[in-house]
Amino acid sequence: MRIDRYISGCGYASRSDAKDIIKRGIVVADGRVCTKPDDQVKEDSVVQIDGTTLFYRKYVYLMLNKPKGYVSAVTDRHYPPVTDLVGEQYKPFNVYPVGRLDRDTEGLLLLTNDGQFAHAVMSPHKNVRKRYFARLDLPMTQEDVETFASGMEFKEFTAQPARLEITDDPHEVYVEIAEGKYHQVKRMTARCGKSVNYLKRVAVGAVTLDENLALGEIRELTLDEIASLYPEAYPLKHK
Ligand code: URA
Repeated sequence: MRIDRYISGCGYASRSDAKDIIKRGIVVADGRVCTKPDDQVKEDSVVQIDGTTLFYRKYVYLMLNKPKGYVSAVTDRHYPPVTDLVGEQYKPFNVYPVGRLDRDTEGLLLLTNDGQFAHAVMSPHKNVRKRYFARLDLPMTQEDVETFASGMEFKEFTAQPARLEITDDPHEVYVEIAEGKYHQVKRMTARCGKSVNYLKRVAVGAVTLDENLALGEIRELTLDEIASLYPEAYPLKHK
């Protein structure tokens, strides 16, 4: 691949800044100085800029603490997409959201450019459970816990048995679902005659929302977090 692409793919610089850096004669690939943006390197080449060794990767895996007001998309005609919150260093990777949260839902949203990872997390066959914190207009009851636990029929799908945990304040609950269909938590709650005033996703599988992330902040997933969601392809793909 081209050296300017390699440099931007490392998140070191944008493609146009990479071209300027190359012209300064400070980029060394496998021991030879690169002079042109289209000089060729391999994915496993050792590339140094001013003595710093770059780390090339094809895929990135990000955790966003999504604020209200953003849509889970890469573009939208009416509202800002969550990709507006992705920092410059990740722009070259063209990440997209893994599944969706409603515009008024906060919390854990994963972003990646790895389609197989996205499929592993979203596929109904992989049974990756999603956990939410919800605040409701009315208190939840033991009967509601049982209604959630017996699964629910909807027009376009059947929700598998879901877990409803009532906190000390019965207006506040944790809900764990298997699917992640459109408005699923709100629709299940409505079945019990209650409506959601606030919704936040706190976990996807074993990956929990990092408490140190303020709303709108992003961090990369750790290797353990990636592996927990996607054991088949990791670490083979990334070594
Ligand atoms: N269920 C909902 O109702 N909304 C979300 O954003 C996610 C799950």
